[in-house]
Amino acid sequence: MKVFLGADHAGYKLKEKIKKFLAKKSTQFEDFGTNSEESCDYPDFAKKVAKAVQKNKGSFGVLVCGTGTGTAITANRFKGVRAVQATTNYLAQMAREHNNANVISLGARVTPEKDALKFVETFLKTPFSNEERHAQRVKKIDSK
Ligand code: RB5
Repeated sequence: MKVFLGADHAGYKLKEKIKKFLAKKSTQFEDFGTNSEESCDYPDFAKKVAKAVQKNKGSFGVLVCGTGTGTAITANRFKGVRAVQATTNYLAQMAREHNNANVISLGARVTPEKDALKFVETFLKTPFSNEERHAQRVKKIDSK
């Protein structure tokens, strides 16, 4: 499993914690920045992650900004990318099971670190249900 990470200044610290968490679990990841708490623009990093997820079949993205909103909105502009703004563990789980989401977007200013790590763990370990009705609906997302 390959995980692509990205954050803005507000999400930087939590992104670093998520990296440690993934390393502990021997999960392969690539970090697209940002690399400090200096003010920057979340779309720059969300776009890099979304493009990497688009290109690498079966990969996942983890995005962090202040709220999880801007990074999710940006990532969802990319065809084939399905980003969830996860504010509960249930959302992280259902986004995988029903929506085959491939990007989780977290809000460092609204989500305690412990919860955020749990959401990431749940997201990465939960498979898509693959039930016919869900598969058909996910397919419809990208159809005209
Ligand atoms: C940065 O202040 C903040 O706007 C950003 O991290 C994010 O919350 C946007 O959605």
